[in-house]
Amino acid sequence: MCGIVGYVGEKKAQGFLVSGLKRLEYRGYDSAGVVTVSDDGEATLVRAKGKIAELEKKLSGLKRDDHVGVGHTRWATHGEPSELNAHPHRAGKIYVVHNGIIENYKELKDTLPQHDFKSETDSEVLAALIDSFYQDGKYELVDAVVQALKLVKGTYGIAVVSELSPDELVVARSGSPLVIGVGNNETLVASDASALVGHTKRAIYLNDGEVAVVRKDGIEVKTLNAEPVSAKVEEIETNLAAIQKGGYEHFLLKEIMEQPNSLAETLRGRVNVKEGTVHLGGPGLSEAELRKIRHLIIVGCGTAYHAGMLASYYIEQFTSEITVEVVIASEYRYRQAYIPDGTVALIVSQSGETADTLACLREIKKQGVRTVGIVNAIGSTIAREVDGGTYVHVEPEISVASTKAFTSQVIAMVMFGLTIAQAKGVRNTVLRPYVEEIAGLPEEIGRVLDAVNGDVKEIAKRYAKYEHAIYLGRDTAYPTAMEGALKLKEISYVDANAYAFGELKHGPLALVDDRFFEVALVPEGALYEKSVSNVQEVLARGGHMVVITNVSEFDLPVECVVKITTSVRLFAPLLMNLVMQLLAYYVTVEKGYNVDQPRNLAKSVTVE
Ligand code: F6R
Repeated sequence: MCGIVGYVGEKKAQGFLVSGLKRLEYRGYDSAGVVTVSDDGEATLVRAKGKIAELEKKLSGLKRDDHVGVGHTRWATHGEPSELNAHPHRAGKIYVVHNGIIENYKELKDTLPQHDFKSETDSEVLAALIDSFYQDGKYELVDAVVQALKLVKGTYGIAVVSELSPDELVVARSGSPLVIGVGNNETLVASDASALVGHTKRAIYLNDGEVAVVRKDGIEVKTLNAEPVSAKVEEIETNLAAIQKGGYEHFLLKEIMEQPNSLAETLRGRVNVKEGTVHLGGPGLSEAELRKIRHLIIVGCGTAYHAGMLASYYIEQFTSEITVEVVIASEYRYRQAYIPDGTVALIVSQSGETADTLACLREIKKQGVRTVGIVNAIGSTIAREVDGGTYVHVEPEISVASTKAFTSQVIAMVMFGLTIAQAKGVRNTVLRPYVEEIAGLPEEIGRVLDAVNGDVKEIAKRYAKYEHAIYLGRDTAYPTAMEGALKLKEISYVDANAYAFGELKHGPLALVDDRFFEVALVPEGALYEKSVSNVQEVLARGGHMVVITNVSEFDLPVECVVKITTSVRLFAPLLMNLVMQLLAYYVTVEKGYNVDQPRNLAKSVTVE
């Protein structure tokens, strides 16, 4: 979603601001802007609708030497994508970039008749409000910001610069992330640490309710109530290679192909094949606490929700002593759900910033329930607010569609389930097969990717003409099919939906005709024959089917079969998901759409 960058230092601010905004492009946006202020207080504000390339065109004749400035990529919420609605917003002598939503902006706007509003945004209201306290420099900028923020209801990450103090930025956060990069004679600001990679490895992550005055050689952090905060400087672990395409045409393909390594990172130090056990330190639960767990709530959105669904099928197999409930965060946050004693909540999020998931975490914590994060982004809000957690360690996902995070989220949750089962004394003979398969998965994923890549690319050519798709599966293959359908729909805009095979005759079978193609997951196992019968039902109605299976004898006359040769049984759906990820990728390439930045979507959904 929206992105913020800021710079104060000895170099030209414009360089970092534009390159930083480019790093944040993956988050999704529809307009962009920067303002820089010269040492003698002259501001240069440039904004453009559309891509950063448009902004660069406008900036090309305006190369400035200014040493301070802020920039923004906007993902429209209040008001259409346009130059006037783009940030930074000006009020008097100040310029504001804002992520989040000011919920009471209408009331606040009524109190600001002196400001000539140019945009439809809530963010300009915030700028005008700060200016009303600043009074053209009568008060300190930071004090004006604090006064204004005390009146605001909603969420914000902001960076403010003034023509009257071109040696500082004021930044603040509540509900929208802000990171301050500590450099040598320069300080950088961003809403996402990836913008800082390559500039500095040292960062301060602001907490909600904190405001900071940022200068090239110092950072002062305090709360909105003026209590000083001794901010912790943390290390940024991401390296440049992780946020570059590394020879691939698209980030999505790179991220799909990275899965052998990314999953190996998730497993590092956590699996003991010899003993047939797993060990997770992060959740911070003692053996006694683990033994008391009777119920898990898994909370997530989109792909993270699907990962939770899939993991729940496995966790239920370990012991009947745990029930698992998987919930969509945007729904759960408003439900009056009863949470039984002995519950632990798993909060699943790649970005660690998803607004609905974060809101659930806070609601659940209020009820005294122990929370465990399954998060990728280190230092993210969810990672900081959970009681304990397991990072999946897959490095950043830049492509909007989530791939490598899904695989690792599933396995991280399964490992948490195994940890509980171990503590409850479930026999090693029951758990060991899962542990052994998990340990071998990274290598197997690499093998399968190599084996199927070429075939899937060809298959995609055949199916790229369809506008509708049905994904089908039973048992663990059902949530996997849900994830497959989401991947196809979000990047190729094909209307793809998943159904449990057993649900076919209850409605979806009526859809089967020449406008649709079907993707069916048919894994080996107790329900294999039932899935085969369902495939026959679709075939009998003239379905255009792609079957993904690990059963070498599968011989029904469907249009395409992708056979996965593997010793993996329990986690075969995760391997089938690789085929679906590649299918979504190649169909999208065939259709000529923007693979990494699908329309209307943002990587990190920080608003409801
Ligand atoms: C789909 C996708 C989204 C995210 C969802 C949750 O490919 O990426 O559905 O999974 O927005 O995001 P996180 O995991 O960051 O909370």
